[in-house]
Order: sequence, then structure tokens, then C-alpha cells
Amino acid sequence: MEILKVENLTKVYNSYKGAKEVTALGGINLIIRQGEFVGIMGPSGSGKTTLLNILSGIDKSTSGQVSISNRDISKMKKDELALFRRKNIGYIFQDFNLLDSLTLKENIGLPLVLDKKNPKEIENRVDELMNFFNIGDLKKKCPYHILGGQKQRVAAARALINDPEIIFADEPTGNLDSKSANNIMGTISKMNEEINSTVLMVTHDPFAASFCKRIIFIKDGKIVMEITSEGDRKKFFDKILEVQSVIGGEN
Ligand SMILES: Nc1ncnc2c1ncn2[C@@H]1O[C@H](COP(=O)(O)OP(=O)(O)OP(=O)(O)O)[C@@H](O)[C@H]1O
Ligand SMILES: [Mg+2]
Repeated sequence: MEILKVENLTKVYNSYKGAKEVTALGGINLIIRQGEFVGIMGPSGSGKTTLLNILSGIDKSTSGQVSISNRDISKMKKDELALFRRKNIGYIFQDFNLLDSLTLKENIGLPLVLDKKNPKEIENRVDELMNFFNIGDLKKKCPYHILGGQKQRVAAARALINDPEIIFADEPTGNLDSKSANNIMGTISKMNEEINSTVLMVTHDPFAASFCKRIIFIKDGKIVMEITSEGDRKKFFDKILEVQSVIGGEN
């Protein structure tokens, strides 16, 4: 089943103070199916963040279509899109974006509170996810009382709370040491493998990317290559390094 379908997507940033227009995306076509775990890689300035922002409805394209579960988000009005995003999209931010004055339980349940769901229902769903991610004993704690690795699991639980069609992650290992990077990637893999979540992740980190099952490389706003894992993470890691050495993007 197709979850995400991107057709002929372009993004041109307008000239600003005499600077030239920038074509950040030059015609992207992409299909992501239910249960896939896909990475987007490419050199700095290749258009990764621009692409992710348009797919997740944060930014508008210049032309082309983006459909999530057969609904074209490029045609939605602002309010409709905001509601659609809240109900159908999960997002894991680089710095996790947890609210410091709320307990972990409140942080995770927040999207459902905004949706005016029944409190008992919210409570059950939050409990279920906290247990799934082994943070069930931290319910009443606040973000500043917990460790980085636990924060990531809270962020993952919050991304899953609304049973999203797809989860987007932008450089989830960005500011992390290798142990934390390993933890967050393990958590995202667990979501993908055990809950069958569909995940699209942007990264320039080959270690993080090696957890994906398929990787799409973009350069100058175009897809230039695609590789698929055969299940051996070490081998896939080597393959990623090899492609990077050809198309760039090691930084
Ligand atoms: N708001 C903007 N206005 C003008 N140009 C922009 C804007 N945002 C991005 N760009 C340009 O669009 C191109 C793609 O940028 P983007 O941030 O998507 O790349 P990226 O692959 O995410 O890079 P990085 O790996 O450094 O994060 C670059 O040439 C960038 O300078
Ligand atoms: Mg970027």
C-alpha cells in the first residue's frame, strides 16, 4: 500500500535582495509504501531539509503533488493541513522539542489533548507507548529530570501517539554521541519493525542511515541514486560510504 506519493515536486526559493533564485528541488518523484524505513541522504545544500519540510507540510512546494494516503496535501488550505498533520503525521525533531514544564506523560499525550480525545483513552494510549519504549516508570517525571536517551524515547512515543500514517525524522542523531545515536536508531528501528511504522528520515550520518532499509540519494535537488539493504547492517554501511565517496555528502 502506498503511503507517500511525490510527483514532479519542485521548489524554487525566490530571489532576495538581488540574489538569484535557487532551485532547491528540481523534480522529485518518490513512492513510499506502508512499513518502509527510508533514508534521504545527500551533500550539504542538496535539498534534504527542503524536501522533508514540504513532505511534512511545514513548507509549500513551487509545483508538483504530495499525497499521503491518497490525500493531496499540496492542495490543502492552512487549517485543513494543520488538522491533517496533527492526525496523520508523526515528527521526531533533532532536539526532541519536549515541553519542560509538562511531565513526560503530558508531553506524550499532548497531541491527543489538542484533539479533545477522552482522558481515559489518552491515559491508556500513553501507558501503552511508555511501556513499549521501557519508560513506564518515568510517567510523572519532567524532561529536565531524565537522560538524553530517555528523552529520545519520549519523543518517539509522542510521534506515535496519534497512530500516524508516516513518521518524519530530521537528522535524529545530529547532536548526539555515538552511544545515544545507537539508542535513538534502535528506537526508530523498533517502531518500524514491531509496530510496522512507516518512517522517512533525513540524515548525513552513514551510521544512522545503515538502519534504514532503503536510501535515496539526492544531489542538486534531484534523486541521483537509490540503494536497498539486504539485511546486513555492516555491509549496508560500507555500501553507503561507497556511494557517498562518489556523490559527496560526507560532511
Ligand atoms: N529559505 C531559503 N531561502 C533561499 N534559499 C534557501 C532557503 N532554504 C534553503 N535554501 C537553499 O536551497 C538549497 C537546499 O537547501 P537545504 O537546506 O534543503 O539543503 P540540505 O540538503 O538540507 O543541506 P544540509 O545538509 O546543509 O542541511 C541550498 O542551496 C540552500 O542554500
Ligand atoms: Mg538540512
